[in-house]
Amino acid sequence: MTIRVGIIGCGGIANEHMNGYQACEDVKVTACADLNLERAKQFAKKYGIPKVFGDYRKVLEQKQINAVSVCTPNYAHAEPAIAALNHGIHVLCEKPIAMNAGEAAKMLKAARTGKALLTIGHHMRFIPCSQFLKNMINEGDLGSIYYGRSQALRRRGVPGWGQFHIKEKSGGGPLIDIGVHALDLILWLMGSPEPATVSGNVYTKFGNRPDFFSRWGDYKREDYDVEDFACGYVKFTNGAALSLEACWAAHLPEMDAFPQLILGDKGGALIAPHAPEPVRISTTRGETLMNIIPADFPDVRPHTEEVKHWVACLRGEKEVLVKPEESLNVQRVIDAIYTSSESGHEVIINQPLSAPSANKPGKKNATAGSRK
Ligand SMILES: NC(=O)c1ccc[n+]([C@@H]2O[C@H](COP(=O)([O-])OP(=O)(O)OC[C@H]3O[C@@H](n4cnc5c(N)ncnc54)[C@H](O)[C@@H]3O)[C@@H](O)[C@H]2O)c1
Repeated sequence: MTIRVGIIGCGGIANEHMNGYQACEDVKVTACADLNLERAKQFAKKYGIPKVFGDYRKVLEQKQINAVSVCTPNYAHAEPAIAALNHGIHVLCEKPIAMNAGEAAKMLKAARTGKALLTIGHHMRFIPCSQFLKNMINEGDLGSIYYGRSQALRRRGVPGWGQFHIKEKSGGGPLIDIGVHALDLILWLMGSPEPATVSGNVYTKFGNRPDFFSRWGDYKREDYDVEDFACGYVKFTNGAALSLEACWAAHLPEMDAFPQLILGDKGGALIAPHAPEPVRISTTRGETLMNIIPADFPDVRPHTEEVKHWVACLRGEKEVLVKPEESLNVQRVIDAIYTSSESGHEVIINQPLSAPSANKPGKKNATAGSRK
């Protein structure tokens, strides 16, 4: 069966989606839309897409469209995704799922109402080293996982295109932009535990300064109203814990680093997808301390793998790897870090079901809240 797809938002990441669809047999991208009609027309010309619109709703009105890729800025994820899902059109939406958990929950509801698939573009799960480590964890090689340390760090990397630096359009800074990738990856590797409590801080120290220079393009300093560094600490209902740092600008030793550390009672793993040694496993054999370093991984483009997997899901051959419920949980943690930073208190998402045995249950700083 031919799958017919529409593209909503024809900017940078939409090209990755197109590469993926073009790598699939029997898939036709039949329509695209962008608020910037000229950009949509250029995109359509580049990829030979027959129908071009300035309004995404026209894409949804096209007969026989099975699915859309939502590739708009963060503020414009929920509306077209919900409209498509309500029409029964399946949605691959770019990350983050939405501006906040309230919007994300409405997207999940629309998917249920429209009996349509919803998944989020977390391509890092499709990097071969991520898949390799996930398989090792599933096979029990790391044992019971109790701690994660997640970092998405750029020393001078405020995006100079789009509206990533404007809170009203993006929902936040590096936490929601690149921290979301790191969080999604590490929570998936940790077995998608339920977040219980979250505390965090965000800082704006560089991005709005006239003397600041970014290596990722230029933008208007006076528009910059998001954080440039965020940190958080999450406790899960299963007793596990996670620390997180996300940064676009700071006096860091590295230019660009994405290391995710996972500790289990049989082994630990450091995964840094773009590093020369993307996975390092630490374990023991008897009293010998062992490091295991895979020698090679297939050289594939993860965005393309993500779209190929999506098409297999549309054909009913696979289940979506990135479940919308998982993305909602990721968004809850992000919201809670912002809320905790604003309020100065820990945020309770769920009550912990078990406490780590070495810790005595303590008094909670009860301040619940989430951004609507
Ligand atoms: N998965 C990844 O690796 C990755 C990488 C980059 C960006 N992204 C995500 O993709 C999204 C888009 O980022 P980008 O870098 O492509 O941005 P971009 O600015 O290059 O493109 C976004 C496009 O959407 C259009 N647009 C805005 N509102 C619209 C609407 N209501 N209807 C139709 N078109 C609309 C804009 O005119 C623009 O052309 C963001 O959410 C971002 O977080 C993901």
